[in-house]
Amino acid sequence: MAEMIGRSGRVRRPMLERETELSALDGMLTDLCGSGDGAEGVRTGGLLAFAGPPGMGKTALITETRRRAIARGCTVLLARGGEQEQEVAFHVVRQLVQPVFAAESPEEHRRILGTWYDIVAPAVGLVAAEGDASPDPQGVRDGLDWVVTRFAVHFSPVVLILDDAHWADPESLAWLTAFAARAEELPILIVVGYRPDELPAGAGPLRRIAERSGSRPFELTPLTPTAVQRVVNHMVGEGADEAFCRECWAVTGGNPYEVVELSAKIRERGIKPQQANVSQLRELITAIKDSGLVERLERLGTAAVRFAWAAAVLGTEVSPTLAANVAGLGAVQAADVLDQLRGARILAPARKSDNGNLRFFHPLVASAVYQAIPGALRVALHGQAAAAVVDAGLGATAAARHLLEMHPEHDDWVVQRCGRPRPSTSGPGRRTPPAAAWPARCANRPRSRTAPGSCSSWAAPPCSASRPPP
Ligand SMILES: Nc1ncnc2c1ncn2[C@@H]1O[C@H](COP(=O)(O)OP(=O)(O)O)[C@@H](O)[C@H]1O
Ligand SMILES: [Mg+2]
Repeated sequence: MAEMIGRSGRVRRPMLERETELSALDGMLTDLCGSGDGAEGVRTGGLLAFAGPPGMGKTALITETRRRAIARGCTVLLARGGEQEQEVAFHVVRQLVQPVFAAESPEEHRRILGTWYDIVAPAVGLVAAEGDASPDPQGVRDGLDWVVTRFAVHFSPVVLILDDAHWADPESLAWLTAFAARAEELPILIVVGYRPDELPAGAGPLRRIAERSGSRPFELTPLTPTAVQRVVNHMVGEGADEAFCRECWAVTGGNPYEVVELSAKIRERGIKPQQANVSQLRELITAIKDSGLVERLERLGTAAVRFAWAAAVLGTEVSPTLAANVAGLGAVQAADVLDQLRGARILAPARKSDNGNLRFFHPLVASAVYQAIPGALRVALHGQAAAAVVDAGLGATAAARHLLEMHPEHDDWVVQRCGRPRPSTSGPGRRTPPAAAWPARCANRPRSRTAPGSCSSWAAPPCSASRPPP
């Protein structure tokens, strides 16, 4: 049985009831890497897909995939779709290929990309795009085919992993969908995790390709009462009685995320896991679903709310310094609230980074926090984020998606950066709708659900963020 690795790197809980998925993964890794007995066969790739609603355990399987692939000596290219980064063209592709390029010199980049350099280098973020022309998406896709095929051969065997594919930017997803059809002919295994109900229609072929690879998308199923009992026992302490565990299963429906969060709450509140206490479980599970989450955040105080909102606006992987800047908090106060937010299982250390970056404990938490930001304040926060990102020297590309969330008509700073002449903001991969189209685009995005009163005094007028003078 696989054991899931915690964010601290130590072994935590067993991964339960995923034997079928893991044995399919092992089979495909063997096809890709060979059986290890020295017999040389034809190495084949393919596509493996883990599908399920939020909390069903896709990321846990993806993390295990990465671990097993590395253990077999594979080169792993890893990316994650981000709910806040869907507007940024080729965002996912950049995550996949940048670590490979980062190890090489600019001369080597030119050598690797050859005649594709001018088309692909801006899309993957190696150079800023020049002038006003958007890259030709088909040209970029052809170039990426060529580059990743080269990677597949040069760094063979390669495992390309995309988690939260439903949030991948459309440009990356279109490329991956077309490229995946060829993966069987190459020593490259593609593994994707996604929420089936949210996968864009254009990614439909991914499902068919997975079927052709003989694995069909694995629809992850809820945990059984027996598995729920094991999680509760593991987290709360042995001795949880059967009636109590059965009720844990009933209120969570066996969703692993909810089972784990419920167990953490039971432990935190010191509730004895016995039948006499089952009546408390309904209240606890309500607090775990997103409305309860917003209240939990508000109880931590205004500074914590500001920090969490700033982090939600900044996106998938967040620098704590940047979040503190956007939230307007000093270093000491930021460190304090960060401890609180970690303790409340709202923020956690980022998975891939050792640079102290943060992520939300789960994408469900990130979505709930983002949705809770009042609309006008969210616009202002995106303005502050754009300015902070530019000030931090992270480049105009990183700022571009925040500018897209603003209402730029009367704002010189935004118009100057997004209007003509187009600045290097239009660099790698940013989609560039005409400025007049932005308010409509913004209107299509999910907007505020609640407006927590505790922070209303903090609300700044829209677009009045502290920006450098034009
Ligand atoms: N098979 C499993 N057995 C036990 N716990 C699991 C299992 N799958 C996931 N979990 C736990 O459930 C939580 C949510 O899982 P996650 O992989 O993030 O879900 P998803 O990516 O589908 O939203 C995590 O804490 C994870 O450790
Ligand atoms: Mg996930």
